[in-house]
Amino acid sequence: SKVAVLLGGHSAEREISLLSGQAVLRGLLAGGIDAHAFDPAERPLEDLHRDGFDKVFIALHGRGGEDGTVQGALEWLQIPYTGSRVLGSALAMDKVRTKQIWQSLGLPTADFWIIHKGLLDDQLAADIMTGPVMVKPSREGSSIGMKKASTVQELKDAVAEAEALDDVVLVERWISGPEFTVGILDGQPLPVIQMKTPNGFYDYDAKYKSNTTQYLIPCGLPADQEEALKAMALKAFDAVGAEGWGRVDAMLDEHGQFQLLEVNTVPGMTEKSLVPKAAAATGLDFSTLVCRILAAAR
Ligand code: DAL
Ligand code: MG
Repeated sequence: SKVAVLLGGHSAEREISLLSGQAVLRGLLAGGIDAHAFDPAERPLEDLHRDGFDKVFIALHGRGGEDGTVQGALEWLQIPYTGSRVLGSALAMDKVRTKQIWQSLGLPTADFWIIHKGLLDDQLAADIMTGPVMVKPSREGSSIGMKKASTVQELKDAVAEAEALDDVVLVERWISGPEFTVGILDGQPLPVIQMKTPNGFYDYDAKYKSNTTQYLIPCGLPADQEEALKAMALKAFDAVGAEGWGRVDAMLDEHGQFQLLEVNTVPGMTEKSLVPKAAAATGLDFSTLVCRILAAAR
């Protein structure tokens, strides 16, 4: 079969997707698969049929690639693709709706406020500011548009920045961390990783640029806590209808309780990325990992 690796795209995470996609492409080629890069920002998806592709590995991050739109187009074209279907992709991209679903199921996630564009007034800002918060566009990735706020003015500035990227802004009660992540492969959790960032939080620079971010595998939790986090991550993944492979992020709060952050249905696959590190800890090299993800395409 002839495989297209979808990479790039139009989202704010385009640069990361190009890195993920090139790495995936190399991994598939090393596994003896007839794979080719395909950037939907440059060519219409209908070309997949014209060029004889019969399978797709989605390595697009963010809106337009990870949010159900490409998945829907591929359903329409009847071409099998990797990872979550339309619904799971769309829900996981939306942090607000993800948290609402988790709350309704009793899964732990930090308290939050939903700010619709232009609706943060002085009263609401004052109500929110009983302590520090994290401000996030509801549907972004790689920490783009995210900022901590500790004063009303910082909150207003952070919300304005996030509103430039999304009509809905999520304001979460600040959690000190540390941050943990659970990769999912073939519907099963991989070993937990702890991310240690010397400055601030695990933001864009800490994710892709810094050499000071530390990744702990084993993650440093007692075995029973690691197992509990893996089980929670799997429930969180299933709750939004995500399927196959992905990554669930969570933080430990100051009371020693895990708080779920989000689900990534197309997590980063760059050299610095987390799922490849977790897979490596179980003895799966990168090429075997991407071939396994592709094998589950449908
Ligand atoms: N959104 C980035 C790619 C990640 O979750 O790894
Ligand atoms: Mg994300």
